[in-house]
Amino acid sequence: MFTPYYRPRRLRRNENIRRMVRETHLSVDDLIFPLFVTEGKNVKNPIHSMPGNFQWSIDLLVEEVKEVHRLGIPAIILFGIPDHKDPVGSDAMNDEGIIQRAVKAIKDAVPEMYVITDVCFCEYTDHGHCGAVVDGDVDNDSTLEMLGNQVLTHARAGADMVAPSGMMDGMVGAIREALDDNGFEKIPIMSYAAKYASAFYGPFRDAAESAPQFGDRRSYQMDPSNAREALYEVDLDVNEGADIIMVKPALSYLDVIRRVRERIELPVAAYNVSGEFSMVKAAAQQGWIDEKRVTLEILTSIKRAGADLILTYHAKDAARWLAEL
Ligand code: PBG
Repeated sequence: MFTPYYRPRRLRRNENIRRMVRETHLSVDDLIFPLFVTEGKNVKNPIHSMPGNFQWSIDLLVEEVKEVHRLGIPAIILFGIPDHKDPVGSDAMNDEGIIQRAVKAIKDAVPEMYVITDVCFCEYTDHGHCGAVVDGDVDNDSTLEMLGNQVLTHARAGADMVAPSGMMDGMVGAIREALDDNGFEKIPIMSYAAKYASAFYGPFRDAAESAPQFGDRRSYQMDPSNAREALYEVDLDVNEGADIIMVKPALSYLDVIRRVRERIELPVAAYNVSGEFSMVKAAAQQGWIDEKRVTLEILTSIKRAGADLILTYHAKDAARWLAEL
């Protein structure tokens, strides 16, 4: 009979030793909670494809942010859903727009909360694309100018960090220049550097009412087949002055997270997107999986792959579960 000499099971015998040799630790400090803000008063519209998530009016959003803060979550990222949409997404660049008023209200009521704004146009344009459309395609360079205007309204409203998600070439450089030229050199940029044209965004587009009205986003978001190209995108954004680099989605792209982690020294964020969240919720509602264990396993795997920060709709649940552990 073969008797093994090496026995890795020795270090798995009880919870104490497992804790002692654990390599990856998930913490509430890692979590960023996405929130959707809409016009009106006393509005809390359930997003049916994302159980437990809502479109909030500003008054109720502020209460929700207090709860997020009580749970110890350090940061939120905000998405605006304006009443008014037009071809260039004017509400996105308006100092009195939905997101700008939401940021002000939150920073007044819960100044300790770190407020990140998503910087994009898809929720604000009537065609649902992430910038100005010329000849049926998003025009890169005129969108850069619009992005500069948009971030200044976020900065003036009091945003702590801006997160451009439109995958325009040069977006980080253009935004850095706009911020620096206007006295906002202290505001960091978290770039959605490697953002894929993914089917996992489906529920988000319901939530944010941002589905493209024609075509798709494949002329600006990345082809899911490509990983080297992600590294090129990341290099460009680092060179243009990004402070944090994001990979999105997370779960089908753990290999990309790992490769980015090994390539750069900046913090890496990963977006555990709406479709990834909703699949877990749906299976849990059917009683097919243990929601808590699956969620914590997923979030841990994203960290193990190399992410320092995780944007996730599971943040509130995870914060509660981590506090129980
Ligand atoms: C674009 C944006 C999207 C998401 C975050 N920012 C959608 C898109 O590119 O269509 C998706 C997030 C998610 O699915 O959770 N502003």
